[in-house]
Amino acid sequence: MQVVILPQPFDVAQYAADFISKQIRHKPSSVLGLATGSTPIATYQALIELVRQGAVSFQHVHTFNLDEYLGIPATHPQSYRHFMNEELFNHIDIDVARTQVPDGMSNDPIQACTRYEQAIQDAGGIDLQLLGLGRNGHIGFNEPSSSLASRTRIKTLTPATVADNARFFAPGEFQPHLSITMGIGTIMEARKILLLATGDTKASAVKTMVEGALSAACPATILQMHPQATVVLDSAAASLLEMREFYQYIEHENQKLQANGRPY
Ligand code: F6R
Repeated sequence: MQVVILPQPFDVAQYAADFISKQIRHKPSSVLGLATGSTPIATYQALIELVRQGAVSFQHVHTFNLDEYLGIPATHPQSYRHFMNEELFNHIDIDVARTQVPDGMSNDPIQACTRYEQAIQDAGGIDLQLLGLGRNGHIGFNEPSSSLASRTRIKTLTPATVADNARFFAPGEFQPHLSITMGIGTIMEARKILLLATGDTKASAVKTMVEGALSAACPATILQMHPQATVVLDSAAASLLEMREFYQYIEHENQKLQANGRPY
């Protein structure tokens, strides 16, 4: 796991947008796994700006989102489909037919999960998966105790996650407690993973993810097993890391090697 620590959330967004753009320039038909939530919004804004400047094009990109609430339609302002359209897809040159979000209104959600897995396979698998991190260590909606080998399926949200997301729903409005999420096994098949975490509310989950023991109690610890996982943090999210200085030293050395044209 490569740990990159940057001063501010703004720096995290710039780094992530640059990382994603490089992936697309390297392979214009990249298959991206995307996330919702507060964390990636600044990254999406930076990507929109890069598209506007002509520095990158999503014309041939295919996307799969991590998750969707079960029981609210795509038109609902809190649906993740709506979020993606508003925060990214409507502002870039992507073909919306190539963007997929799990179907939260399917008559047969179990079948919808199987079809989602198949669609990822048919697209050639995910080249780069973007992730946020739940305060309880969840990735996607794989809450603590999720099988580390799980596939796309229906998951019950923990009360903590429901409470964290309540800010997006009006008081008294129906808030789903169920979701469809890519499984941890599905996420781990992505060729590269880029996880972003900012703010001190994530510091404890970041510490467990990076320096804790591998455990379903903190699903994000599985990223320790991924050969190409990059974790990008602002200094607040990194504040509890014991080996923080070592990660910064490695990153510094990597940059020196890259500057000298050595790609490792
Ligand atoms: C979103 C997702 C979630 C979020 C996580 C962090 O698609 O799957 O795992 O990434 O809950 O959310 P924020 O960024 O709002 O703190």
